[in-house]
Amino acid sequence: MKKGEKILFGIIGFLVVVTIINFTVLEAIRRHSEKPLFPILTHFVFTDEGMHGYQIYQQRDCYTCHRAVGSGTSMGVSLDGLGSKHDVDYFYNFLKKPESVYGAKTMDHGAPPKDASYVSDLPDADLRAMAVFLSELKADQGSSSSFEPPQGDSSFINAMLDMWAPDGWRAQYKDIREWMKSKPQEEQHDSKH
Ligand code: HEC
Repeated sequence: MKKGEKILFGIIGFLVVVTIINFTVLEAIRRHSEKPLFPILTHFVFTDEGMHGYQIYQQRDCYTCHRAVGSGTSMGVSLDGLGSKHDVDYFYNFLKKPESVYGAKTMDHGAPPKDASYVSDLPDADLRAMAVFLSELKADQGSSSSFEPPQGDSSFINAMLDMWAPDGWRAQYKDIREWMKSKPQEEQHDSKH
């Protein structure tokens, strides 16, 4: 091996070893820690129909692409919390006619040969039940699927605004954090459900 190759492979080998050590340590901490590594900002309380929809969701292999109720994969969209963004009708219409609801080309849902094309052909009752299930996956304040920003003053958000927001944005847009402060508590509570 030439000297340059030795250095190059040496650096790559070092990075691989560091990655493996990091992963092992992090997994060990995660397994033994009582508290979750990240706060969980989604929740669900299923009605009977929602629970039925969840069973259909599992039978129809949706979890091979999606994450919901804390399990599944991250190949597609994470569905936890989405019920705070959309209602039953939206979900039903999406499952039935994905591209017209998105108003854009989709990747996996839609007409064959897309991998999730089977979804729109499922019996109507199954789609309805799954739509109810999806609408019951709720987001808490501060979750990425909630429109409510994290509670309290965040220096991170302030720094991001300073760095990225165009000058004078306050004149054009409302700062949702100001609105949250002025909104009566009760209304804030309502908007979560
Ligand atoms: C082959 C992978 C795959 C399978 C299987 C799959 N999905 Fe999806 N899903 C996706 C992808 C990717 C998207 C993003 C839209 C797109 O490009 O198709 C998506 C989007 C969605 C959305 C829309 C989320 C939003 O924000 O608008 C819902 C709801 C959904 N899927 C539910 C389901 C359900 C219910 C099933 C099972 C019946 C299912 N998916 C099966 C890959 C999949």
